[in-house]
Amino acid sequence: MSNKGREITITALKYDPQVKASKPHFVEYKLEETPGMTLFVALNYIREHLDSDLSFDFVCRAGICGSCGMMVNGKPRLACRTLTSEFKDGKIQLLPMPAFKLLKDLSVNTGEWMNGMSKRVESWIHSTKKVDIARLEERVEPESAQETFELDRCIECGICVAACGTKIMRPDFIGAVGLNRVARFEVDVHDERTTEDFYELIGDDNGVFGCMTLLGCEDNCPKNLPLQTKIAYMRRKLVALR
Ligand code: SF4
Ligand code: FES
Repeated sequence: MSNKGREITITALKYDPQVKASKPHFVEYKLEETPGMTLFVALNYIREHLDSDLSFDFVCRAGICGSCGMMVNGKPRLACRTLTSEFKDGKIQLLPMPAFKLLKDLSVNTGEWMNGMSKRVESWIHSTKKVDIARLEERVEPESAQETFELDRCIECGICVAACGTKIMRPDFIGAVGLNRVARFEVDVHDERTTEDFYELIGDDNGVFGCMTLLGCEDNCPKNLPLQTKIAYMRRKLVALR
């Protein structure tokens, strides 16, 4: 019996917006599938053996850094957590994630977008207490700490933004990642912001009232964050104010 794996075909969009002559086009790569092959492994094989010019991002290979998001057969996924064996016909089409600035081929600038989102929702602890590093840390109830940690598991991959129908209609929509971030600070006992303060940040159609509950975020989030539950919770809280 031969140990050879099946042949798979990966089609990737190539385009360099920095180069005037560059036009978006697809390039097809054929390669042998190896046991347990992820898209990350396949893309590295392509870059090493077939096309050294193909651009894509990765850092951790373990679903932690959030840098390898791309559209895989129409759905946003982490390349390092996607097995090629999932695609029974061996055909995989790759596109860069929409909603983010295209750098080249499959590489997009999620960092710039996330930075803007963090500033917009003032993603830091707001406290009037003086910082005193000699003092013991404040006590936090385990349930409360657990709730904050749960929402802090977001890896800023941008998949919820790429999967969001609302974001297509409202380009300034803050996305599930931004609303989740606000929910994270809302449960954090160290943050002294009031519901009114959060209303100022996300109480409009580009914030919590814009979400059309299409569920693309929660269905695709690789960290299985309870995004819709948190958006609904924030919406109920803010709507009660007016
Ligand atoms: S909420 Fe989920 S999908 Fe969105 S950026 Fe965070 S980890 Fe990625
Ligand atoms: S390479 Fe880090 S999440 Fe995929």
